[in-house]
Amino acid sequence: MNLSTTYIGLELANPLMPGASPMADDLGTARQLEDAGASAIVMRSLFEEQIEGEQYASVQHIEMYADSFSEATSFFPGTGQFALNPDSYLDQIRQLKDALAIPVIASLNGLSPTGWLRYAKLIEQAGANALELNVYHVATDTRATSVSIERRILDVVQQVRETVKLPLAVKLSPFFTSLPHLATQLRVAGTDGLILFNRFYQPDIDLELLNVSPQLHLSDSTELLLRLRWLAILSGRCSASLAASGGVHTAQDAIKAIMAGAHAVQIVSALLRHGPAYLKVLIADLKHWMEDNAYESVRQMRGSLSLANCPDPAAFERGNYMRVLHSWHGGSPSDGPTQHPAPESGS
Ligand SMILES: Cc1cc2nc3c(=O)[nH]c(=O)nc-3n(C[C@H](O)[C@H](O)[C@H](O)COP(=O)(O)O)c2cc1C
Repeated sequence: MNLSTTYIGLELANPLMPGASPMADDLGTARQLEDAGASAIVMRSLFEEQIEGEQYASVQHIEMYADSFSEATSFFPGTGQFALNPDSYLDQIRQLKDALAIPVIASLNGLSPTGWLRYAKLIEQAGANALELNVYHVATDTRATSVSIERRILDVVQQVRETVKLPLAVKLSPFFTSLPHLATQLRVAGTDGLILFNRFYQPDIDLELLNVSPQLHLSDSTELLLRLRWLAILSGRCSASLAASGGVHTAQDAIKAIMAGAHAVQIVSALLRHGPAYLKVLIADLKHWMEDNAYESVRQMRGSLSLANCPDPAAFERGNYMRVLHSWHGGSPSDGPTQHPAPESGS
């Protein structure tokens, strides 16, 4: 049974790794993850705002409103509220490298082509094996075109590529008009991999306090479906390595991501919920499933149900939309969401 995979040029013992999160803040937890079989570990992100401090435009923007809404600044951590400051982040890379044999992947989060990007070089010098670039952005400016936002992302990637030799992966949001086009442009700009996807933490409205409150819910397996579709569409069409992030809670979820085209599968919520040792269970279950279904290697499974290879490509495309809507049978409106589409006839 060969679980090995190549992701952004890293030769990994298996595709499963803890994704960017606080799990790598603590050396003990990181060691437990390695012992449980993690093939690499991704550190939490170092944010542009942390590096640029008070000069960053978003901070100024938020602070502009602080006089009128005193709660506004509480959404945005002050520099002292980040778990690792830029210097301790670099120290943490060195300590993880000393403590672990698996690759350590650092993460930078930001979108301005400015001075904070020098940290890519410092991260490389501190010994990280690869770098994730998280380009989380919420477009609120009515004048910003999608082209200009994509251009900024590409510029940042290109700038980082010119600065470091490290394997580079870009963590994207799902909200692009033409993700396949952006994906191929990111590859041209120099990324080795794409991570699908960022989770957008949707703030809720608190009707008691008449306020908007930030939320951090752990995911569940339903979030995987969005990833499966886009992994399947990009697999084989974009030469970048692909990683799934979001909604992997069981070995079956990981298998689906691999079959859709993932070279690597990142897991956060499930490990936060069940602890580092749960990774061992996932890897054992992955092996059992492969044995039971006569797969000899992860490479053999990868992309077997991508858009290019699956027997019913329409299921990933527009055809699925029409079919699903037309498959709804019966039920009064009061039956609501518990009513399921009737099974397909097979015709
Ligand atoms: C507590 C917590 C902290 C996270 N911190 C980061 C981060 O610093 N950078 C990042 O790119 N993603 C971060 N994420 C997002 C995860 O890496 C991952 O993309 C997301 O949780 C979806 O995966 P999951 O369904 O396995 O949780 C964080 C998630 C959680 C729950």
